[in-house]
Amino acid sequence: MKLMVFKNEEDLDMAAANSVVEVIKANPKATLGFATGQTPVGLYQKLVQAYQNGLVSFKQVTTYNIDEYAGLAKDHPQSFYYFMKTHLFSQVDFTEGNIHIPDGIGPDLEEEAKRYEAMLKEAGQLDVQILSIGLNGHIGFNEPGHTLHAETHVVTLTEDTREVNSRVFPSLAAVPTKAITMGLGPMIKAKKIVFIAKGESKANILKQAFQGPIDPLVPGSFLQLHPNIEVYLDEKAAQYFM
Ligand code: PGA
Repeated sequence: MKLMVFKNEEDLDMAAANSVVEVIKANPKATLGFATGQTPVGLYQKLVQAYQNGLVSFKQVTTYNIDEYAGLAKDHPQSFYYFMKTHLFSQVDFTEGNIHIPDGIGPDLEEEAKRYEAMLKEAGQLDVQILSIGLNGHIGFNEPGHTLHAETHVVTLTEDTREVNSRVFPSLAAVPTKAITMGLGPMIKAKKIVFIAKGESKANILKQAFQGPIDPLVPGSFLQLHPNIEVYLDEKAAQYFM
């Protein structure tokens, strides 16, 4: 693991974005795995800037997002599709057909999970996977439990996750109870992981994930197995690292 700790968020986001840009420069047809949430917003802003400055083009890049809520259409303001469109897709030159996010509103979520997994298998190894971690240790919506999944699956969100995520919904009741998430397989197999975490609230789970035992109750701990993971933290998030 390559650990990098930053004093300010701007530098952290820039360093993480540069790592992604390098991949695309080396291979304009790179396959990227994207994550949502507050944490990667700054990284996406830096990617937009890199595009605006003519440093990178996303035209030939293919993307796979790791998760989507069940029951939210693409144009729902809290859907992850909408999030990606707002923060990144609409601001750079992606080719629409190269963008992949699980469909949360199909008639059969299990079928959608199978379809998404088949697409991922066909895509092969991701060149870079962007990740962050939830307060409960989840990665994407791979929630803590006694088993973890390698493949895309339908998940019942934990009450912890619904509570945390309710900050961007009008009420707790409005937070979906289910989601579709990529399993840990494609993440662990990615050529590179760009992992970001910020703030004091993540310090404890980060210590458990990266310096504790590998444990399905802390899904992020499986990232310790990755041979090429870059971990970008601010000082508050890194405070319990030794
Ligand atoms: P956050 O979410 O970036 O909004 O903290 C991370 C996550 O839940 O995976």
